[in-house]
Amino acid sequence: MEMKKSLLVFAAASALILSGGLCSISSAETTIETCVKCHEKTSPGQVADWKASQHFKEDVTCSDCHGTKHNSEKDAKLVSFPDEQTCGECHEDQFNQFAKGKHNFGWTSLNALPVTHVEPDELMEGGKGCGGCHNMGIKTDAQKKEQLAKGYRYQNNSCDECHTRHTFSKKEAQDPKACQQCHMGYDHPQWEMWSSSKHGTRWFAKESGKLPASASAPSCQECHLPEGTHENRTAWGFLGVRLPLPKDPQWAADRVSILKALGVLNPVTGKPTARLDAVKAVDLVRLTEEAWQTEREKMVTTCKKCHSESYARTQLEMGDAMLQKTDRLLAQGIDEIAGLYKDGILAKPDNYSFAYPDLLFFMRTGGGKLNQASHIEQVLFQMYMKHRMRTYQGVFHANPDYTYWYGWAMMTKDLTEIKDLAQIMRATHKTGK
Ligand code: HEC
Ligand code: HEC
Ligand code: HEC
Ligand code: HEC
Ligand code: HEC
Ligand code: HEC
Ligand code: HEC
Ligand code: HEC
Repeated sequence: MEMKKSLLVFAAASALILSGGLCSISSAETTIETCVKCHEKTSPGQVADWKASQHFKEDVTCSDCHGTKHNSEKDAKLVSFPDEQTCGECHEDQFNQFAKGKHNFGWTSLNALPVTHVEPDELMEGGKGCGGCHNMGIKTDAQKKEQLAKGYRYQNNSCDECHTRHTFSKKEAQDPKACQQCHMGYDHPQWEMWSSSKHGTRWFAKESGKLPASASAPSCQECHLPEGTHENRTAWGFLGVRLPLPKDPQWAADRVSILKALGVLNPVTGKPTARLDAVKAVDLVRLTEEAWQTEREKMVTTCKKCHSESYARTQLEMGDAMLQKTDRLLAQGIDEIAGLYKDGILAKPDNYSFAYPDLLFFMRTGGGKLNQASHIEQVLFQMYMKHRMRTYQGVFHANPDYTYWYGWAMMTKDLTEIKDLAQIMRATHKTGK
């Protein structure tokens, strides 16, 4: 029985190599021997991982990915690191899908934000902060050069963010925990929301054998990378705004306040700024109703595997409606603070051409290089980035607690705080203290 099974596997594997021509067995035995022999001593854990991988079985070796220029203890600097294109030479479909998806914009969108350029390099190119999660996307030569100039030569591969090296496992990437490191925390706690929702708890029950293996329990991948695709994109996306403006007049007015505070509309003239081009370039928001609808319909198709269509649409439409309601609260906060700028009570930020709140400058820390954002502005930032996100992301991830207590309730508290602070600031300003 055992023997029959392994023979079958062997036959299947040979057929794959013969028919597919997936890869040539490029490295000479001697090169494999040298890399492995020495690295079994210098970094045994890596060699063990490689030996446990599908690559080992398929004769994809160290030098297929790292070249042969480095061959001794003394010349490690000559080694090359594989980027996504290297993987793409053998995995064209995954590479092409990835290149069309949102993950491919991770690095570029990070660098499009003004805040990125005043924070410590360790957190960006070094990957210890923002750059540790935004190390997603095929880097241009210029981007690689800039990174190297700052002394960082790693972080040039996105594929190992879900299939970690050197096991490069498919099963690991199918587990929602593969998304956890990045999709968690302050402004995008999808991990926390999903894992404590009915969808997540059923997934865990299934994993531990309490529910049958056939039980339906959607993972992140099932909703966001359906049928094994590597192209990802949602209808609303991260900022929860889209173009054109909504038809409802109040909502449209609220959106204008938000777009001004994002710096994509000029706060004085209301005309689009250069930042809107940057937003377009990284596909940050859907630019047409149709583009938005396409993604929404894809999602409904997924829900329909396990729910009725009307159930699914009703749930998602509540997410849209809550987004509209969060915009009402946020716009009031923005308008309050814009008024303080207008009346000269808040000073113009050093880094900004307008006397207006700039949500894309985050907390404006700037390592002490800039005038610090005032407390009232930090409350606004938190209202936007933490609590508004949680409200609508919570609806979409079927998590009532995130939607209400961590989201909506906190937004109303933020607005009260902003209004109270503004009142005190105005009173102090009047008395000249
Ligand atoms: C004689 C021993 C030896 C041989 C042979 C050898 N290496 Fe290395 N390799 C090392 C040492 C030592 C380092 C440096 C480790 C460190 O920085 O601590 C290294 C570093 C590396 C690095 C990481 C470089 C970095 O900057 O982090 C890679 C990748 C690598 N080797 C791949 C290979 C490949 C591929 C081969 C075969 C073509 C190979 N090695 C052959 C000893 C060897
Ligand atoms: C399928 C491609 C692939 C193969 C095969 C492969 N590597 Fe790697 N290796 C990578 C990738 C991807 C990185 C990360 C590159 C980056 O961060 O930019 C990496 C990084 C490394 C590093 C530096 C980072 C670290 O964690 O220390 C070393 C050392 C290394 N590999 C050694 C080896 C050795 C030895 C072998 C053979 C036993 C091997 N690799 C086989 C893809 C591969
Ligand atoms: C020289 C060709 C070659 C290169 C380069 C290569 N692979 Fe593979 N890879 C294969 C082959 C062959 C298989 C086994 C057949 C398959 O699943 O496609 C495989 C399998 C895989 C699998 C599935 C493993 C499983 O558990 O079923 C993943 C994931 C993977 N590779 C990722 C990568 C990544 C990431 C890189 C770049 C760092 C890479 N590969 C580079 C040839 C290659
Ligand atoms: C824990 C990982 C993590 C850290 C740290 C992180 N981000 Fe993100 N960022 C993400 C994820 C995940 C998304 C997508 C979230 C979503 O769509 O809900 C994202 C989205 C974004 C977007 C919107 C991209 C788009 O097109 O949708 C920008 C811009 C951004 N982050 C900038 C930053 C900046 C600047 C920092 C540091 C000050 C930072 N991020 C820190 C993980 C991270
Ligand atoms: C966001 C996470 C993520 C990233 C990033 C990612 N993958 Fe995957 N990959 C997956 C998932 C999930 C699967 C399993 C798909 C399925 O269930 O069929 C997978 C499967 C694969 C497979 C196995 C295909 C098969 O059906 O045997 C290969 C090969 C692969 N990926 C290569 C890559 C390459 C190359 C890159 C970089 C361009 C990459 N992946 C980046 C999540 C990811
Ligand atoms: C049952 C399906 C489903 C599951 C499971 C799921 N999501 Fe989502 N996700 C959605 C829907 C629906 C949206 C909103 C789509 C829209 O904008 O219309 C969304 C939106 C997102 C977004 C964009 C910002 C936001 O939150 O609205 C990210 C990023 C995301 N999900 C990541 C994840 C991650 C990571 C997991 C697993 C920890 C996960 N999702 C699990 C359905 C799902
Ligand atoms: C290394 C960090 C990292 C990992 C791991 C990761 N992501 Fe992401 N994800 C990001 C970043 C960063 C973005 C925003 C990309 C951009 O700038 O456009 C993002 C964007 C997304 C989006 C698009 C949201 C939108 O704006 O429409 C979805 C959906 C998503 N990720 C799902 C997943 C799933 C599912 C997994 C696990 C299989 C996963 N991600 C793993 C970092 C990561
Ligand atoms: C793979 C199957 C599957 C998919 C796909 C799926 N769901 Fe579910 N969903 C379930 C199951 C099973 C439950 C648990 C039902 C219960 O509570 O009895 C559930 C529960 C829910 C709940 C919570 C209901 C409650 O009683 O608290 C909501 C809301 C929900 N789903 C919405 C969606 C939406 C929206 C989508 C698409 C974006 C979706 N689901 C996709 C299987 C799925």
